[in-house]
Amino acid sequence: MRGLIVAGNWKMNGNQQFVDDMLFSLNKVEFSESVEVIVFPPSVYLHAARQQAKTVKVGAQNIFFESSGAYTGEISPSMLSDIDCRYVILGHSERRAIFSEDDDLIAKKVVASIENDLVPILCVGETLEDRESGRFFEVIARQVKIGLSLLQAEQVARVIVAYEPVWAIGTGKTASPLQAQEVHGLIRRLVAELVGEQISESISILYGGSVNAANAKELFSQPDIDGGLVGGASLKVDEFLAICSAA
Ligand code: G3H
Repeated sequence: MRGLIVAGNWKMNGNQQFVDDMLFSLNKVEFSESVEVIVFPPSVYLHAARQQAKTVKVGAQNIFFESSGAYTGEISPSMLSDIDCRYVILGHSERRAIFSEDDDLIAKKVVASIENDLVPILCVGETLEDRESGRFFEVIARQVKIGLSLLQAEQVARVIVAYEPVWAIGTGKTASPLQAQEVHGLIRRLVAELVGEQISESISILYGGSVNAANAKELFSQPDIDGGLVGGASLKVDEFLAICSAA
């Protein structure tokens, strides 16, 4: 039985006080055992957040694929393992669009994270143009196939996939539960074709894109939606907790 996950991607927001306040509030909550809650602070706050967090897990928003070396500004998978941060978001549409990350680079990061005992959250999703052209699943399928291409089948079982339609991110325009379920079902079928049904049924596929307290329950009740990757709403503690309760 795959797990339900609520992941809060804080993106490039907050400061030390925000991190302290959020973790203080989250530490007081007893989350249901069936839900895993993970927060993703900016990398400068990761270590402090990891030390403070008691009821939630902490992960990074990005890594590079090499272990060490002359890569100014980057952090490595082994550095994350070193501070016991076990999750990392990879291939977020903001990394793809603003920092020109392509599928091949993301695939290297995915395999490097697995080799360092991290759990990658591989983000995929189409632009508005892709959706309107009706060929959106071709784009998503390419992102999934290449993103997983350097892994052995059994390693795919350790990946979380996040479907985030670019047109729904930060826009207040959520994919309808049926639209999201359609894509999640297609992703699961594609993963089954790649590595078999058993693994495909075991992996969590999260939905991201304007998830909030009002729409979370219906989204999370779809058969192939196993929780959410939440951006803006994860910065407001009450709303984030309401989303966690909906899972
Ligand atoms: O990683 C999170 C997603 O980009 C969703 O962001 O909830 O602000 O739309 P959002």
